Amino acid sequence: MSLINMLSSPEWLVEENDFDVELQNTFETLFTVGNGYLGTRATLEESNKGEFAATYISGIFDNHDSTVIDLVNAPDWLPVSIWVDGIKLNIQSCRVLSHRRVLDMKTGALYRFTRFKDSLDRITSYESVRFASIQQSHLCAMRIAVTPENYDATLVVESSIDGGNYNLDRIPNYAETKKFHPETKWNKWAKSKHLRFVSNESSDKNCYLEMETIDTKHRVGYAATLRAQNCDVNKTQRRDYEKVTQIVEFKAKKEHTYIIDKLVSIFTSRDVASDIINDACMETLNKALHDGFDRCFNDHINEWNSRWNACDCQISGDKEAMHALRFNIYHLLISANPNDPKVNIGAKTLSGEGYKGHVFWDTEIFMLPFFIYTQPETAKSLLLYRYHTLEGARKNATLNGYSGAQYPWESADTGLETTPKWTADGVNRIWTGEEELHITADVAYGILTYLSATGDMNFILNYGAEMLFETARFWISRIELNTDKDRYELNNVIGPDEFHEHVNNNVYTNVMVRWNLQNSALLLETIKQHYSEEYAHLAKKLCLSDEEVTHWVNVAAKIYIPFDTESGLIEQFEDYFQCKEVPIVEWDKNDMPCYPAGYDHFNAGETTLLKQPDVVMLMYVLPDEYDDEIKRRNYEFYEKRTLHKSSLSPCMHAIMGIEVEDTHKAEQYFLRSALVDLVDNQGNTEWGIHAASTGGTWMTAVFGFGGFRVRQQKMSFKPWLPSTWNELTFKLRWHGDCLDVSITQSEIRLLLHSQKSHPEEINITGEKQVLQRNERQVFCLNSSMN
Ligand code: BGC
Repeated sequence: MSLINMLSSPEWLVEENDFDVELQNTFETLFTVGNGYLGTRATLEESNKGEFAATYISGIFDNHDSTVIDLVNAPDWLPVSIWVDGIKLNIQSCRVLSHRRVLDMKTGALYRFTRFKDSLDRITSYESVRFASIQQSHLCAMRIAVTPENYDATLVVESSIDGGNYNLDRIPNYAETKKFHPETKWNKWAKSKHLRFVSNESSDKNCYLEMETIDTKHRVGYAATLRAQNCDVNKTQRRDYEKVTQIVEFKAKKEHTYIIDKLVSIFTSRDVASDIINDACMETLNKALHDGFDRCFNDHINEWNSRWNACDCQISGDKEAMHALRFNIYHLLISANPNDPKVNIGAKTLSGEGYKGHVFWDTEIFMLPFFIYTQPETAKSLLLYRYHTLEGARKNATLNGYSGAQYPWESADTGLETTPKWTADGVNRIWTGEEELHITADVAYGILTYLSATGDMNFILNYGAEMLFETARFWISRIELNTDKDRYELNNVIGPDEFHEHVNNNVYTNVMVRWNLQNSALLLETIKQHYSEEYAHLAKKLCLSDEEVTHWVNVAAKIYIPFDTESGLIEQFEDYFQCKEVPIVEWDKNDMPCYPAGYDHFNAGETTLLKQPDVVMLMYVLPDEYDDEIKRRNYEFYEKRTLHKSSLSPCMHAIMGIEVEDTHKAEQYFLRSALVDLVDNQGNTEWGIHAASTGGTWMTAVFGFGGFRVRQQKMSFKPWLPSTWNELTFKLRWHGDCLDVSITQSEIRLLLHSQKSHPEEINITGEKQVLQRNERQVFCLNSSMN
């Protein structure tokens, strides 16, 4: 009867083998279950002091009581407590004989096996499995198997839906950094209440709770039911203010295992009209009850199988790397909702409160590629979010005195800028919302990357082009003409490296703006030539004229790009080379660089130290912009100065390390990226999964080791595998087709599944090749890889 038999093979499992209160919030993040519609942190069913219980529903934001808009900590569907003759089974009050939790990445389910010994020496084996159905995203389910090992007693199982969760807002401000006990560490935070009670119901069949976000007025309804499988139970209910509880009681016999299933359905007024949320919940719940836990779980597993089938990456010869890579893919898969084009992926996915659920350039630059090349429908949905927030982006531009659309550095539900102005302790000013402008070009970049991989002109004509043209307009109004030097400049900005604020002419920003202007003009020309009706419509809607577009091109040609011709170094921004040189001399236990003595995030800007790549980032994003020698010199120069204080950093160094043949470091960077959360090498996994790094890890496997890039609109491969890797395999979607890629130390095998007939031109290690369709082809990799 044990749930243990349900686990997949070991390479799919991530394990916790003991309960450590210091690590509980980290595991809550790592073991998040979700389906893109919602994510639930892995708190214990019976709850625990110091836990951070949370379910986040994508798109449910609220401003009430908080400094900036929050992704709301929605009602908790997990609570289940077991009482043995009045004693609660709980990690803090019972002796724990053993405790193990296992995230099964293959099936998107979290398992738990705990043996409790209470003060009367009664031993209870407690097992559970939970999942958020990826096949029916409004359904969550849990099965509990409880076995009294050495006693007979009355067992009481209490199961609740609890709407009393808060979000965290500001931390108290103490002169010195204070470390709180793990059981009380959240207590002193200012908390934001976002939900108010609407209604609750309960009967012996099910219970229902409905809450509403206070400012944004989203209704959120949960229906739940508890079903005991193999025993006669007595059922009661309790209705507290923001909590509804179902209780089952039964006589339990020694060595018998009792199975109890909890099924929960969730709808919001973003999904259906407010007055039918209850009906929608009941309908889904009744269907699940009718199907039963096993069938719901099987449907969920089948859908997981097909998701993995589309995107699994396999590394033969390095189990640790493959395991870590899968962990990152798992989190990407539970973060995106292909069915809701009005939501996106927050920087911490749906697994934690970091960055308040806000969306950054992390999506377009670090996560979108994974979706573009494995699930283009999901990529489209993520880009449609930018279309649905275009009005907000236009407002940002207007509010700041500019034209067009200025995408917000931090985005929530409307596209208005939502970056906080102060750090959570209220001490330091945050300037990114005002100055980190490159996001607008990054969005444009995401749109055209999607187009080049899918050829989806419908998307461009209906949505993408409008976004692109409005971003171009923004840049034209933001850029300044320096008449003395006869050049265009972008002053007072922050580039990707956030240590340096208020800088002039950040190269990443300026080159991306140039690219944005040039490519908007080119796209417009294509539309004009080939889609005259759509062109006429767009030109009218946006009041576009030929003169305006010519101006984009003229401005682009005169944008200032700091570059030292003698050394071949691209100067990150004007006068960067004048900053103080402070060497990095220390690395921590996770092999991550430490701040040199006397420096931190807020004064590192005086030095040449970087938080994360900036020039190196640019060389990755626009690979044809610089030649190999320039790339090598700049990588060497900036790599030494990069502290990787952002989790976005290691993956870029891995990819570019491979490109410039610094392969030893590239391998090291790959692991730093793949293990960001598994070993918590940024020290803040408790705040949520580092979403960009999950995408960056996939990118390192495919773009770095796999050497895949799109150059001049064609697929190209220049692989390099570490000497211990025998084979790397992955799949890519390309213009509606699917390409199987398998790379060994000496060859690359490709199979393009396709309905079309003409061969595809590709490039392998710098040479043009012709790829036939539906035929496995093997290409020798001419030089030895190592
Ligand atoms: C990084 C940004 C990133 C943000 C959200 C910051 O620490 O510097 O580049 O977008 O985190 O992940």
